[in-house]
Amino acid sequence: MQTAMIEQQLELRLASRMSRLGTETAFVVLARARELEKQGKKIVHLEIGEPDFDTPSNVVEAAVDALHKGWTHYGPSAGLPQLREAIAEYVSRTRKVQVAPEEVVVVPGGKPIIFFSILALVDEGDEVIYPNPGFPIYESMINYLGGKAVPIHLQEENDFALDVAELASRITDRTKLIIINSPHNPTGGILTRKDVTEIAEAIGDRNIMVLSDEIYSRLIYEGEHFSIMSLPGFKDRTILLDGFSKTYAMTGWRMGYGVMRADLATHMTRLMTNSNSCTASFTQIAGVEALRGDQSSVDKMSNEFRRRRDAFVVGLNKIKGFSCRMPKGAFYVFPNITRTGWPAKKLADALLEEAGVACLSGTAFGAFGEGYLRFSVANSLENLNQALAQIQDWAGKNLR
Ligand SMILES: Cc1ncc(COP(=O)(O)O)c(C=O)c1O
Repeated sequence: MQTAMIEQQLELRLASRMSRLGTETAFVVLARARELEKQGKKIVHLEIGEPDFDTPSNVVEAAVDALHKGWTHYGPSAGLPQLREAIAEYVSRTRKVQVAPEEVVVVPGGKPIIFFSILALVDEGDEVIYPNPGFPIYESMINYLGGKAVPIHLQEENDFALDVAELASRITDRTKLIIINSPHNPTGGILTRKDVTEIAEAIGDRNIMVLSDEIYSRLIYEGEHFSIMSLPGFKDRTILLDGFSKTYAMTGWRMGYGVMRADLATHMTRLMTNSNSCTASFTQIAGVEALRGDQSSVDKMSNEFRRRRDAFVVGLNKIKGFSCRMPKGAFYVFPNITRTGWPAKKLADALLEEAGVACLSGTAFGAFGEGYLRFSVANSLENLNQALAQIQDWAGKNLR
């Protein structure tokens, strides 16, 4: 048979589910900021959520050494045994619950645990409860995989903690999964032991899984981190997500993990075999060093983020139309900008294009993010002060 000549580009026949796939706007804003920089504009980058520090040198050395020693091959899909063991030990110690290596699945970054949890558990029409504003990938993945997205509105008056009464009212017979995130992106809110206990009580003895996103667990400035996995009866109903990206400034290494009941871990491992085969072997050897080696860099980073948070929040509160609570964890501040009279997206765009400050609209984190902006304080104090001065100047000229 002769192949017909193709003169026009053929229509791209995408699967219909692609129309339901969301995105993470931080990467879109970063691309636009880079474009402006190419045109010669100076931009202060407060959009992307990654530590500005280098990966601790002991971790880098461990990876280099691993490369020289030949850790350059495929490894087991669930992760190298020595890393699964180090993670099990770390999680057992920090969450005060006994975790075995078979309950750990190592993946390339924290994100795949979100994707895999929903893939593994949620059938078409199953309901998934999640925070809004919240990390945009939750909503994107729920919609993409045909689940019914059931948002819980996190309110500023509650210090952005989850309203347990609202959660209780949203649970139905179709609820399959509840996603919680503490410390929280984008608000910096945290769930206290009391909050987490009340959430557990609201779930009661229902057979509902909880995806507990604890990727910022080591970046906490008030109180202590408390995981729902620590509560009696919840170990088997929790998928704990944590990783190396934020704690050890390893965003580009792509390494995270999930901790879950062993039978579910087997299914997640099969998803790994089907998608990635395994996480890079030499990075996993470095991961063992990250968890077991000197931890002083984590404290140093955390103290520095606290100092910047303090200064940035004070500065923002001096700007016309901005009012900002002191976030308790992570490295984001989430000011209320309703008194500027501007919609969040329009304001974020203007700050980038006209004030040279890249930040994110609260709506990048869901519809309930309207009225807020998110700034990452993972930048130097000098740059943060520069951003404040530029926003102040812009506000003086543009806000009445
Ligand atoms: C709440 C939350 N969960 C998960 C992730 C994903 O982290 P990773 O870069 O390790 O995939 C992020 C990253 O920004 C996050 O903010």
